[in-house]
Amino acid sequence: MAGDYYIGIMSGTSMDAIDAVVVDFANPKQAELRASYSLAMPRALQQSLLALCHSGDNEVERIAAAEAAFAEACALVVAEVLAQAQLKATDITAIASHGQTIRHQPQAKPPYTVQIGDPMRLALLTAIPVISEFRRKDILLGGEGAPLVPAYHQAVFARADQPTAILNLGGIANITWLPGAADAVTGFDTGPANTLLDQWYQAHHNGQGFDEGGNWAAQGQVHPQLLARLLSDPYFNRQPPKSTGRDDFHLPWLTAHIQACGDIAATDVQRTLVALSAKTVADAVERFLPQQPQRLYVCGGGALNPLLMEALQQALPRTITLATTEQLGVEPQWVEAMAFAWLGWCFEHKKPGNLPAVTGASSPAILGVKYLPD
Ligand SMILES: Nc1ncnc2c1ncn2[C@@H]1O[C@H](COP(=O)(O)OP(=O)(O)O)[C@@H](O)[C@H]1O
Ligand SMILES: [Mg+2]
Repeated sequence: MAGDYYIGIMSGTSMDAIDAVVVDFANPKQAELRASYSLAMPRALQQSLLALCHSGDNEVERIAAAEAAFAEACALVVAEVLAQAQLKATDITAIASHGQTIRHQPQAKPPYTVQIGDPMRLALLTAIPVISEFRRKDILLGGEGAPLVPAYHQAVFARADQPTAILNLGGIANITWLPGAADAVTGFDTGPANTLLDQWYQAHHNGQGFDEGGNWAAQGQVHPQLLARLLSDPYFNRQPPKSTGRDDFHLPWLTAHIQACGDIAATDVQRTLVALSAKTVADAVERFLPQQPQRLYVCGGGALNPLLMEALQQALPRTITLATTEQLGVEPQWVEAMAFAWLGWCFEHKKPGNLPAVTGASSPAILGVKYLPD
């Protein structure tokens, strides 16, 4: 059977890397990962993107420059996955590119979400059609525009005989509840995960890197007063549908809470942030899922942080076992990029990509805009 190849490109809230996959949808029920590659976000580009996450001077000019650099980096990533998969540009039906979120304001009036990345430029650079802007229509239909991955989780991980829960520990953590029977899928952002861990770590390590293995956090201790303050943020109490981002959880938010507590060692703050992510996920499981899962399958970069995984296991009831999506046949670090490849496939097949029960949109909708190179 001839392949039906899509490239999914994802760079999430963490801005750590541009992840890309080639997925073969010839048999849509068993989509096959053909190649994967992750390009560490070039430092200068990362700095420009971070600076665009809050308002400042010359934003239009800075967006133009950052978008061009982002599209060029994506084109390099596409060349790499094509080589790995031993495919040519003409073999690919479409690239589905998430773009880089610089603002996510689903509760603003009017609500908006902004992903940049110049998909037209990417289409011209790669000679492959590019589908992008996946979140906009859902927002215009009254939804949160996020999370979008639960629909993909449903397509690949749902089982008729038992409920399943998937937890993505990206920059932001999001959870998907897949009921065994016909009930609606539930999914929402639980709150910050790696984004705050990275921001605090980088503030103490020359603006670079992340806390490998959670080793730096492990040198500190949870600060109960700081943890209580962080947990008092109204986001955690809000009923789903809900989604969040760097807009809500950033360094000034954290430092204001730290200052109110007095002097705290940097490693204690890092350890407290690990506890915050673990506790907010555990609370969300208890409060907002229709039923307690037996297993929670984790994906995203946080699955590679043993300290965070251990803190999570301790925060959850003993009856819930932690696993990774590896046990469901999908490597944790590629789930999101594969989800966007799938959203590209949905666009081409005129299938809705959102789940109104998750995002709160008024209806299911075909998501994305297509940019043609010719
Ligand atoms: N070995 C590791 N130890 C600790 N943290 C890790 C490790 N590998 C990845 N991470 C964390 O995961 C983050 C990336 O997660 P990812 O799922 O790509 O998030 P996003 O979707 O926001 O880009 C990194 O920035 C880092 O904080
Ligand atoms: Mg990432």
